[in-house]
Amino acid sequence: MSARSERYLEEMGLAPVWKLRGPKRALGPGIRDQEKKSGESRSRAPAVLKPPPPRRPPQILPPVPGLVAAAKLDLADDRAARILRMDWPELKTAVAACEACGLRKTCTQTVFGVGDEQADWLLVGEAPGAEEDARGEPFVGQAGRLLDNMLAAIGLARGENVYICNVLKCRPPGNRNPEPFEVAQCTPHLLRQLELIRPKLILAMGRFAVQALLNTEASIASLRGRLHRYQGVPLIVTYHPAYLLRNLPDKAKAWEDLCFARRSIAAL
Ligand code: URA
Repeated sequence: MSARSERYLEEMGLAPVWKLRGPKRALGPGIRDQEKKSGESRSRAPAVLKPPPPRRPPQILPPVPGLVAAAKLDLADDRAARILRMDWPELKTAVAACEACGLRKTCTQTVFGVGDEQADWLLVGEAPGAEEDARGEPFVGQAGRLLDNMLAAIGLARGENVYICNVLKCRPPGNRNPEPFEVAQCTPHLLRQLELIRPKLILAMGRFAVQALLNTEASIASLRGRLHRYQGVPLIVTYHPAYLLRNLPDKAKAWEDLCFARRSIAAL
């Protein structure tokens, strides 16, 4: 990265840029690195792109009863039961049309989620902010730029074996905290996303993701550094990127969490 780009990032509060230390590329190069490399070598030899890894066949799975129990959902609740049987197109349509909690009245549009629907990594945040609400994509504001930076530091990129979504699909007005009723109404959407993706690892970012998935009020600090399980899927707790922007010293802890996540997924 050029000194100029580093200065830009510094201005945005996103510096220092995170760089992977130690042995290079345990996970293999990301597409961005490949593009960079191919750009560098354009004048010498044609770029050789690595073939993508074999894809898992798409799966439509029935709801898992345990999954429902863990999130304190009641399958007798017709709405939740219906959502937990949906395929991707049905779920996207249902989220876009949802008026269950009232937030849809004040937001611009729903923000479903973005990325690889068969990703190994599922990142869960809290709720869309102003920029996400305007663009219909999660984590595209300043916190999102930090998240992209953090992902790049461990050789990952948005959309490449990574899926990103939020607990809430609608922006709470003025970015206030989600209300318990709103979380309860939106949780079936999140659980169905999780069930359809079947990731190898969930990264729960911030207390609302943790509360929705682990059903605990415990602090992020006390839950970090351990491999939790959400219905058998390994889950790692870390700070929310927006929190990190306000608490720069904790970036080092989030870096530890990401390294821990990378080691854990490599060991699976
Ligand atoms: N914060 C979140 O939790 N999610 C977003 O999409 C953006 C900011």
